[in-house]
Amino acid sequence: MGFTMGLNFVLLLAMVATNILSLYHLSSTVQSPKPPAPEPVPDQLLHQLHAIRATINHLTRHQPSTPTPGTNTISSKPSIPPDLLLYSQLSPIASACHNHPDLLHKFMTYTPYSVCPLDSDLAESLILRGCHPLPRRRCFSKTPPNPPSSLPHNPFPSSLTDSNVIWSKYSCKSFSCLAKQNPDMGFDQSVEISKFMTYKTELDLPIPQLLQIAKSASSVVRLGVDIGGGTGTFAARIKMYNVTVLTTTMNFNVPNNEAVAMRGLVPLHVPLQQRLPVFDGVVDLVRCGRAVNRWIPLTMLEFLLYDVDRVLRAGGYLWLDHFFSKRVDLDKVYSPLIGKLGYKKVKWAIGNKTDSGGLKNGEVYLTALLQKPVSK
Ligand SMILES: *[C@@H]1O[C@H](CO)[C@@H](O)[C@H](O)[C@H]1NC(C)=O
Ligand SMILES: *[C@@H]1O[C@H](CO)[C@@H](O)[C@H](O)[C@H]1NC(C)=O
Repeated sequence: MGFTMGLNFVLLLAMVATNILSLYHLSSTVQSPKPPAPEPVPDQLLHQLHAIRATINHLTRHQPSTPTPGTNTISSKPSIPPDLLLYSQLSPIASACHNHPDLLHKFMTYTPYSVCPLDSDLAESLILRGCHPLPRRRCFSKTPPNPPSSLPHNPFPSSLTDSNVIWSKYSCKSFSCLAKQNPDMGFDQSVEISKFMTYKTELDLPIPQLLQIAKSASSVVRLGVDIGGGTGTFAARIKMYNVTVLTTTMNFNVPNNEAVAMRGLVPLHVPLQQRLPVFDGVVDLVRCGRAVNRWIPLTMLEFLLYDVDRVLRAGGYLWLDHFFSKRVDLDKVYSPLIGKLGYKKVKWAIGNKTDSGGLKNGEVYLTALLQKPVSK
């Protein structure tokens, strides 16, 4: 354990050093308009580079616990998939990938230049363990055979097109099956169509009300991010108000990304722990739905909230929509955490979570609309 942590630390240093080295390269080659004779890289840096590569190679090495009989590799040779080795020599691999060598090796065992294995579950398992971006680059992903031929004029169609999904890894083989299995998963359009439009309890914030709040604060909502947005219903609904919303979504046993795309919306396949792939201060609204809740480790939640702050413009809104936690934790842990952002509480509603899990654990929902201050 200590050994692994030590190695991780070395890797971290190595990655930092690699970046410094790249910067050194860039600054010595890119800056001047006419290319002078390239300056030689000092021996010391070369030496460092070799040390870094050696460390990375060491870390990507993986010995299977039982030697595979019948292979003609010499037992002292590490069994690294060639593409993993090649990749690791060209660009750094997220340190968390190394904590899961079995998954990583399975994922990277493929034939370059041919069709990728059909293993999006494996890919998501790695991503959710922090191995992101994934290191596989040189194969052709399988895609559904019948691409759409018309624009999605209605983001709430009575049914989505089944032929736009590769169903082989799912128990369901159609969207209607998914809708029947669990009407709450975002595939039943008769359920989706009323979402974000009705006010049943204080925990709801219908889109017309949200936009009215922004308008009366002389604030405009043009662009948003919906974190953990499932099949993209929030983006679909608010698109009718000419607001563009990007939806981050994963495919936990359901084709969420495909569904979002089919509705003519943008699915971002990024996990909650990843830095949002948009620039600082360019977004007017970030919504955190059910995916953001007390099951997220606290430190990760803090990183998430601060990254939300990074992408929000001054005066932009963070909407925590039905965030649930234990009642005692809301007071002791989450309210202070949210308070650290220094946002204005435009709405702050708490209600009991009355399903069986909520009653058993003394859980509450928080729906909060928070406005980023204009100056810090
Ligand atoms: C959205 O934009 C279209 C085209 O500019 C416009 O006709 C429509 O009224 C707008 N809808 C809303 C709700 O603002
Ligand atoms: C919420 O739950 C708490 C604790 O069980 C209870 O005391 C309170 O009355 C409930 N509030 C509502 C509005 O039901």
